Parts: sequence; structure tokens; C-alpha cells
Amino acid sequence: MKKAINNNMDLTETSFERTIVKEQSEELMIKQLFMEELKEIYWGEKYLLKILPKMQKGASILELKDMIEDHTFSAEDHVDRIEQVFEILGEDTQVKRNSVMEDIAKKAESILESTPEDSLVRNAGIIMVAQKIKYHEIASYSMLTKLAHTLGKSKIAGILGRTLHEEKVANEALIVIGEEYINESALLETESEFEKGE
Ligand SMILES: [Fe+2]
Repeated sequence: MKKAINNNMDLTETSFERTIVKEQSEELMIKQLFMEELKEIYWGEKYLLKILPKMQKGASILELKDMIEDHTFSAEDHVDRIEQVFEILGEDTQVKRNSVMEDIAKKAESILESTPEDSLVRNAGIIMVAQKIKYHEIASYSMLTKLAHTLGKSKIAGILGRTLHEEKVANEALIVIGEEYINESALLETESEFEKGE
């Protein structure tokens, strides 16, 4: 009987140790996931600093031009904040190619090359690309903020949470510009078709 109790204690200790090891490896995997995503969004934000001025130049709606210009300034802040996060973690800044952002940027370049200046299709295309960028950034910063909380890094979660908030505000502004512009343009086209028919 005594032997059975000792065996049970041994078993309990072993499973406790296993739980600790499992939790440690899980924490390590979460940290790895966080670092991979951080490096990718760092690459993405830096890449945006190259592509956004081209999009801003190609757009012809004043609100859209202003909005993209603001976002270029914001992207500089977002780069600075990511660098702060690397510093807090005691890591050197590193980038990892962000294929999602790269594909979206390629789409922007193809729209600018294949559409006439000052056209509905070009502006609509730029709005679409800008929204894709925002959705990607929101998904990324949202998960990074959650992972930072999970890892007990509240200061980092706060820094990335600020960026997340700015990305959401920018996305809302783009939705409004898109809806107003496309609806207005559609209305004008309908009116001119109507006039032609008279
Ligand atoms: Fe950003």
C-alpha cells in the first residue's frame, strides 16, 4: 500500500514537471511567433515608406492624397515604435520579408501602370490597395498586441496597441473616402448617361 502511494506521488511529480516543461515550450513558441510577426511587420512598414509616396502621387482625389500622406508620416512612427519594441526586448532590429505586403504593393504598381491618370478606376484601385494594406496591418498588430499581453509584456502591448488604434482609425477614414467617392462618381455617371438619353 505504502509503495502504491509513493508510486502515485512519483507520478504526480512527473506530470507536474511535464506541465512546467510544456508551459515553458509553449511560452517559447509564442515568443517565436511574436518575433517572426514583429520582423515581418517591420519589413512591411519600411516597404510602405517606398510605396505610399507613389500611391499618393498617383491619386487625384484631394482627401485620398492627404490621407495617404498622413499615413506615410504614421508609417514612420510605426517603424520607430517597432524599433522601441526590439530595444525593450534587448534584441537587434531584424526584418523578415513580408510576402503579403509585397503582393499588395505589386498590385498598387500594376494599377498605377495600367490605368489612366485622374480616372475613377485608378482612384478606386488605390483606395482598394490602401484598404488591403490597412486590413493586413490591423490583423498583424491585433495579434502582436494579444501575444505581448500573453507574454506579460504590458509596455510592449501598449506601444503596439497605439499603432493598432491608428491603423483602425485610418481604415475607417478610407472606408468613408471610398464610399463617398465611388457613390459620387457613380451618381455623376448616371446623370450624364441620363442627359445623353434625353
Ligand atoms: Fe502602419
